[in-house]
Amino acid sequence: MNINEIKDLKGKRKITMLTAYDYSIASLVDRAGIDIILVGDSLANVVLGLESTTQVGMPEMLHHTKAVSRAVKNALLIGDMPYSSYQLNPDECVINAQKFISEAGCQGVKLEWFDNCPTVTAQIVKSGIPVMGHIGLTPQTADRISGFKCQGKDAQAAKQLISQAEELEKRGCFAIVLECIPDKIAQLITKKISIPTIGIGAGIHCDGQVLVINDLLGLFERYTPKFVKKYVDLSPLILEAVQNFKNEVIQEKFPTPQQSFTIKEEEFKKIDQL
Ligand code: KIV
Repeated sequence: MNINEIKDLKGKRKITMLTAYDYSIASLVDRAGIDIILVGDSLANVVLGLESTTQVGMPEMLHHTKAVSRAVKNALLIGDMPYSSYQLNPDECVINAQKFISEAGCQGVKLEWFDNCPTVTAQIVKSGIPVMGHIGLTPQTADRISGFKCQGKDAQAAKQLISQAEELEKRGCFAIVLECIPDKIAQLITKKISIPTIGIGAGIHCDGQVLVINDLLGLFERYTPKFVKKYVDLSPLILEAVQNFKNEVIQEKFPTPQQSFTIKEEEFKKIDQL
């Protein structure tokens, strides 16, 4: 997948996007034929156990993106720019975006909306790096908007989201994530702009859908947003497997000869003579 192929899918078929943070899961997501793999800064919450996505920086994001990159053969790989890399330090936005491309093997980066977003987006696009926008619920600045809840629920807030989407299209974004907004507003934005919209908690009318892989797999138990669908609930299965291992070790049922290695008897006897 490349950027143009993703853009061309608008109006033809829905786009699929999932997050991944390590080699093993990214290999499976890629093999399943998902169009876009995002190394999201949700890494902070679902992998590193931090409270806020603002607590991860470039070193953590690049470390995990490199691991994912080694697994990806077909999907478009997008790196999520951490808060400090473009909101706290807008002057370093291009240098940091470039690191996702040249050091971590991404084809583009994602930025969340903030006051200076149009300028920063334009600078990164101008440097030749494809940018995916992100509006609605933007976790990096959730304390500045109205928190972790549906955005754009009154006419004025909805109008603001529409303007943001149009502005990001104008500044050269190739796609926009719409997070946690009313389905009718997502539909309106999807009709108004010519680049794909990828929804998370934004209803069926977006051009594509994205979920955090740990939510989809039932691997993150701390909280589950309303928009998540667990396609499998792995946590109880993993718990059971780990408990079985523990019991078998204690009861001396594991390892069996099948998981053990042998030495020829004559070699074994020689040890004492050495
Ligand atoms: O960080 C992330 O996982 C994201 C997705 C929710 C789109 O930004």
